[in-house]
Amino acid sequence: MSNNTTSSRPLNVLVMAAGLGTRMKSKRAKVLHELGGLPLIAHVVRAAQALDPRSIIVIVGHQAEEVERAALTEAGELVSFVMQAKQRGTGDAVESARSMLEHSDSLVLVLSGDVPMIRTETLRKLIEHHNDAHAACSILSVRLENPTGYGRIIRDESRAFQKIVEQRDATEEQRQVREINSGIYCFEARDLFRALRKVEPRNDQGEYYLTDVAEIIRASGGTVTVYLHNDAREVYGVNTRAELAEFENLVRRAAIRKLMIDGGVTFIDPSHAYISAEAEIGRDSIIHPNVTIEGKSVIGEGCVIRSGARITNSRLGDEVVVKDHSVIVDSQIESKCSVGPFAHLRMNAVMEEKATVGNFVEVKKSRLKRGVKAMHLTYLGDATIGERTNIGAGTVTCNYDGVNKHETIVEEDVKVGSDTMLVAPVRVGARSMTGAGSVVTKDVPPDSLVAGVPAEVKKKIR
Ligand code: UD1
Ligand code: MG
Repeated sequence: MSNNTTSSRPLNVLVMAAGLGTRMKSKRAKVLHELGGLPLIAHVVRAAQALDPRSIIVIVGHQAEEVERAALTEAGELVSFVMQAKQRGTGDAVESARSMLEHSDSLVLVLSGDVPMIRTETLRKLIEHHNDAHAACSILSVRLENPTGYGRIIRDESRAFQKIVEQRDATEEQRQVREINSGIYCFEARDLFRALRKVEPRNDQGEYYLTDVAEIIRASGGTVTVYLHNDAREVYGVNTRAELAEFENLVRRAAIRKLMIDGGVTFIDPSHAYISAEAEIGRDSIIHPNVTIEGKSVIGEGCVIRSGARITNSRLGDEVVVKDHSVIVDSQIESKCSVGPFAHLRMNAVMEEKATVGNFVEVKKSRLKRGVKAMHLTYLGDATIGERTNIGAGTVTCNYDGVNKHETIVEEDVKVGSDTMLVAPVRVGARSMTGAGSVVTKDVPPDSLVAGVPAEVKKKIR
């Protein structure tokens, strides 16, 4: 058996993520289901990456390509993949990485792709414990009020580790044990792969269980230790949608609590706010009930986000007011702007300082410069609107001719009359006006009033 004491030996991380996750009753591989807006696998890879390992090897199978993409997004060049074409159990999963690790004098930290809430600090403690004990195998365990579904840690009379028994293979007496296997282990590479050869699929599922390795190592004289961790929530495994929803709730509540305690953000009703773990919110911002903030959104200080708003991958400056039921996706709103109620900003809509969009206004791929107002019932697509310009109720940029999208430019200090149709490509010169109901089909010179269908210059207004 290896007897390495230095913690400076290389560390390789193996993440088992090949299974479909039958109990999820889903077409998607379990590790692709999202928690706090991130796939489960990404959470695990993130925790592993922070350990600064030599490599992270992800065992893939079901929907391998998508699982690979999710892992790569998180950890880039550190990650490599091994295909486990047929999922014959967790022992077989690790077996697939044999040629990469068998002869390395390294530590192998085995993680499960479906145990997403594990913290790096806890993994570090497991490794420390493993090194201190000169162990060949160390198992991370916790005690659960309700251990149903997990493998149980069976100890002998002297409380030393004996074996792990899966729920379905356990006797009635063994099922009373509340100490469970987290599915997270630290191994000496050589000991692991030596023992793995002896694993047989003699269990209720006819699978190769990684858990049997611990017993095999112990039987051949190796040291197996159990590191009993005190925070059970960290090692919850996601096996069903009900569990996923429960964990979502935990992650969400933790993120909101952190924003309140550390970030100085007010939540009117923290139990009805949906904030991604990646979002940032500045101090003294107020989040009303039923607000959803997704992805890597950044909200500045002193903002007010009213009920029913959804903000996805967007940036808001300071003192922005988002009124009820507005949807803001992939957009940018500078300080002191006001949005909504019932507004829709998308595809890189940009509002510069102090711009306002009101009820039933949609802004797509457009820039509203400083102080622009579009208060009612308007569509602005592929448009640039100059400083201080006022867009009257019912204005529409007719940007699509059925084949191509065209641009509309409205310069500064323009007054666009109610119900104006701006037939793109078109430009309205600075300080001009359009009469109510104008259909603007050609460029409007500066300082002019146009009106009619199609709109003609009526007079110079300056
Ligand atoms: C496993 C443990 C159990 C532990 C629990 C903790 C075994 C036999 N049992 O059970 O003791 O309490 O985790 O959550 O290991 N996977 C593969 N290839 C396979 C099979 C599984 O990559 O052939 C992956 C899955 O995608 C998943 C992980 O391994 O990410 C765990 O598999 P799962 O089937 O969920 O094991 P559990 O029944 O939860
Ligand atoms: Mg599981």
